[in-house]
Order: sequence, then C-alpha cells, then structure tokens
Amino acid sequence: MVQVTPFLLLLCLALVAPGLSSTKCVLTGKWINDLGSNMVIEAVNKDGSFKGTYNTSVSDSPHEIKKSPLLGYQQDTSQNDQTIFGFTVNWTFSDSITVFTGQCLVDKNGKEVLKTVWLLRSHVDTIKDDWKATKVGTNVFKRIEDQKE
Ligand SMILES: *[C@@H]1O[C@H](CO)[C@@H](O)[C@H](O)[C@H]1NC(C)=O
Ligand SMILES: *[C@@H]1O[C@H](CO)[C@@H](O)[C@H](O)[C@H]1NC(C)=O
Repeated sequence: MVQVTPFLLLLCLALVAPGLSSTKCVLTGKWINDLGSNMVIEAVNKDGSFKGTYNTSVSDSPHEIKKSPLLGYQQDTSQNDQTIFGFTVNWTFSDSITVFTGQCLVDKNGKEVLKTVWLLRSHVDTIKDDWKATKVGTNVFKRIEDQKE
C-alpha cells in the first residue's frame, strides 16, 4: 500500500497538468476593450495574416462612427501559446489610420486578454502640423463570451 501512493500521485499529476498548461490565447473571435469599443477577428490564415472589423466607441472625428476594416499578422504560435500580433485599422469615416501592436495573454483566472499599444495618425494639411498628427494610447481587450440560452 505504501508504494501505491506515490504512483497515484504521479498519475493524478499526469492527468491534471495538461489541463493547467493548455490554456492558449487565440485571436479569432469577438473582443471588447476598456472603452467599450468592440472588434471581430476572423480566422487566422496559415501565414499568420488575419482580417476583421473594428467598431470604435470613441472618436474625435465630427463624422458618424462606422465599422472599419482591420488587417494584421500574428507571430508563429507553434512554439508559443501567447502570440504577439499587430494590425492596422483603416477608419472609413475619418481621414486617419490606427496601428495596434500587442500580445494575446492568459490572465491568472485563465481568461484571454489582449494587451495593446496603439498609434493614431490623423491627417494634417501641411508639414508644419506634422508634430501634432500622432496620438498614442493603450487598450486591454477581453473576449466577448457567446451568450448561451
Ligand atoms: C458599434 O458599437 C456601438 C456601441 O459602442 C453599438 O451601439 C453599435 O450598434 C455598434 N455598431 C455595429 C455596426 O456593430
Ligand atoms: C480605407 O479607407 C478609405 C477612406 O475611408 C476608403 O476609401 C478605402 O476604401 C478603405 N479601404 C478599405 C480596404 O476598406
């Protein structure tokens, strides 16, 4: 009996350990950030490229907000379950472009989060105004869980 106990312990670890370590952060899906902006990322292609749509909840443009396309790449995930990525949003309602870069990380509760930094470039009329054309910020995205009823 005394020798059986360590064996059982090992067996338990073997069964439990994969469950603990297999949390993978996947970009595909619906996401919402700390400002209430939401985006949909479609299936990631074999070469790491992906597209989607971005629906911002904040804007400094006088025009009505419209859902805008995004295009990006993720890095290789074969060695890494928490991929880094970058994407560009082409705002269709204002003369500006945003680039995001970030990493898909798993938090301490096992939830996926996208930690990002962005640069927003707005159009200026002359080179003299170039100094004020770029804004920088950060956003944290969480997955929107599908409602099951
Ligand atoms: C965009 O998000 C807003 C909330 O910020 C929502 O009211 C609106 O329906 C969304 N539009 C689209 C096209 O998904
Ligand atoms: C990017 O935005 C511009 C201006 O809104 C628009 O003319 C162009 O078609 C957009 N490109 C894509 C791929 O949506």
